Amino acid sequence: MSDSDAATGGELDAELAALLDIERFDPPAKFRERALLKDPAVYERAASDPQAWWASQAEELDWFQHWTRVLDDDDPPFYKWFTGGTINVSYNCLDRHVIAGHGDRVAFHWRGEEGQERDITYAELLGEVERFASALKGLGVGKGDVVGIYLPMIPEVVVAMLACARIGAPHNVVFGGFSAEAVRERMEFSEAKVLITVDGAARKGKTAPVKDRVDEVIGDLATLEKIVVVRSKGTACQMREGRDVYYEDILAEAEPTCPAEPLDAEHPLFILYTSGSTAKPKGILHTTGGYLTGVSATHRYVFDLRAGGDPDPDVYWCAADVGWVTGHSYIVYGPLCNGATSVMWEGAPDYPHKGIWWELIERYGVTILYCAPTAIRACIKWGAEWPNKHNLDSLRLLGSVGEPINPKAWLWYHKVIGAERCPIVDTWWQTETGAIMITPLPGITATKPGSATRAFPGVSADVLDESSGEPVQQGQGLLVLTHPWPSMLRTLYKEEERFIETYFQRFGSETYLVGDAARRDGDGYLWVIGRIDDVVNVSGHRLSTAEVESAIVAHAEVAEAAVIGQHDEDTGQAIVAFVTLQGDIQGDESTIEGIRETVSGRIGKFARPKRVIWTEDLPKTRSGKIMRRLLRDIAEGRALGDVTTLRDPVVMQQLQDQVSQARAQEE
Ligand code: PRX
Repeated sequence: MSDSDAATGGELDAELAALLDIERFDPPAKFRERALLKDPAVYERAASDPQAWWASQAEELDWFQHWTRVLDDDDPPFYKWFTGGTINVSYNCLDRHVIAGHGDRVAFHWRGEEGQERDITYAELLGEVERFASALKGLGVGKGDVVGIYLPMIPEVVVAMLACARIGAPHNVVFGGFSAEAVRERMEFSEAKVLITVDGAARKGKTAPVKDRVDEVIGDLATLEKIVVVRSKGTACQMREGRDVYYEDILAEAEPTCPAEPLDAEHPLFILYTSGSTAKPKGILHTTGGYLTGVSATHRYVFDLRAGGDPDPDVYWCAADVGWVTGHSYIVYGPLCNGATSVMWEGAPDYPHKGIWWELIERYGVTILYCAPTAIRACIKWGAEWPNKHNLDSLRLLGSVGEPINPKAWLWYHKVIGAERCPIVDTWWQTETGAIMITPLPGITATKPGSATRAFPGVSADVLDESSGEPVQQGQGLLVLTHPWPSMLRTLYKEEERFIETYFQRFGSETYLVGDAARRDGDGYLWVIGRIDDVVNVSGHRLSTAEVESAIVAHAEVAEAAVIGQHDEDTGQAIVAFVTLQGDIQGDESTIEGIRETVSGRIGKFARPKRVIWTEDLPKTRSGKIMRRLLRDIAEGRALGDVTTLRDPVVMQQLQDQVSQARAQEE
């Protein structure tokens, strides 16, 4: 029996293999019957007048003042949407539902790692958001001030984000898996005035001392005036007089009402740092009206959402972390704007047991599940017996995001979780795009496992030839978006030049360069292949090789390092580091551990290299540029490409020997 047979059961593997022959999966008739969108004409309608299409989506929102112009494209690539309009995101996510009489509807079924449960209604959420917004004002936070948020998956993270949106203070959320050092860097770059964090965070039965870690590194950041600490786990932490306050204390003293501020449609809503080609993360800036239009429309139609007014409303679960863009757009803003009831889970997919996700789906009657392929692959490994223990009949739609989904994972998701009745929406998008861009519409689009299919209505995607820049009718090229869309990033925070260079230089200021390679097949379906830059995707987490390299060289014994992403069965890509040590130091297991620790401290555990390969030198061109392409060839065991431009071709032979030795040891 092969490993995969052992993991999935031989019988199941045979069934999946049979499904592999099916090239297209039509939307199930039963699903289609009730789908919000079932007429393919929607694509043509949106394409014939994208501005009218997006305007009709924006009409679904409550505006204080209507816009006068849909798209201002006078100064590309600096596009503006819904000019002249004023709106508030928090009002649209909360007040309007409560005013419409839906205050008792559950916004979140929150579930803690140890089984704690809290159902938070729209009215309760509004109450807490208003109080916290008043409290933030009391701390001196005004319109335009940046607020950092470093919180785990607890309800307060949603409160904090919405409170910022309510008063026009752009938030800068840092994923809880990032280290305190990474938080410091992001607070510094964004000149945050306040940081909201937590005493401790649940980590599979243990508690991580978050506030203490923050204290160790935060020092005296010039702009940071206050740290708000949520008492989540009740762990003791040092509070610095005059700077640190407890969330619960300021909430108790705050004014209970805080009207939502009418904000310009282009007022900044948030900054979210993500990895680019260099070691310095990019601060993606999203604004208010366009972003909310994009996330609410895509959330409604891609997930075919039936909100509270429906006799059979959905229970929706996006199993991402709120600290990534998926969490921003599809845990917080899209679902709340649409009045959805969601599940929010504090922990990991394998704690307290490997069937916790399926237990929660049964417990809350989840109808829509949205997660990353890496989680599906982990579940395949753990075995179908875990989901099979639970009744998953409530599920009617499945989603995938963050990385290409391999056909085997797709089919397992389709068969074992979706029982062949749930369409799968493989959604392609990025932190920069704000909302889903390429995706099936579940009541319309026939799916092909591994393809995100086609652009969402109103979005124009194309594949261009790398050298000529001409559209590739069938075949591989560079993925681009050729028409502005409302939820697009507006700039890179404080780095306008870099914004233009990264996205709008290669094909001009009207064509957004995605940074992914893609293939278009004979039916016009798009298959996203992977990044074209030095960005790797580990378990759906986006990392820059330069960022990891600069963390590795911070280790005292390291002279030089080069990092690449290598294909990995479980995590999609894994980080492999080629490392040269100082002087005569000989690397061993403890050096590797030390390097991993350093990376953990500077970026976060998820960035630790899986493999470290010692090398006396790195393959460089005569001008000193590291040839990562050759390192990738070596790591993947491929025949080497052209080595004639190398300064010292002998290095390659040494490296290959080194890698074969390491491989022999691993085996
Ligand atoms: O390479 C693509 C991959 O993830 C990148 C964006 O990462 P990030 O900004 O962290 O956002 C992730 C969540 C939206 C893309 O450039 N990617 C994302 N979704 C898919 C994908 N690759 C293939 N298929 C997808 N569905």
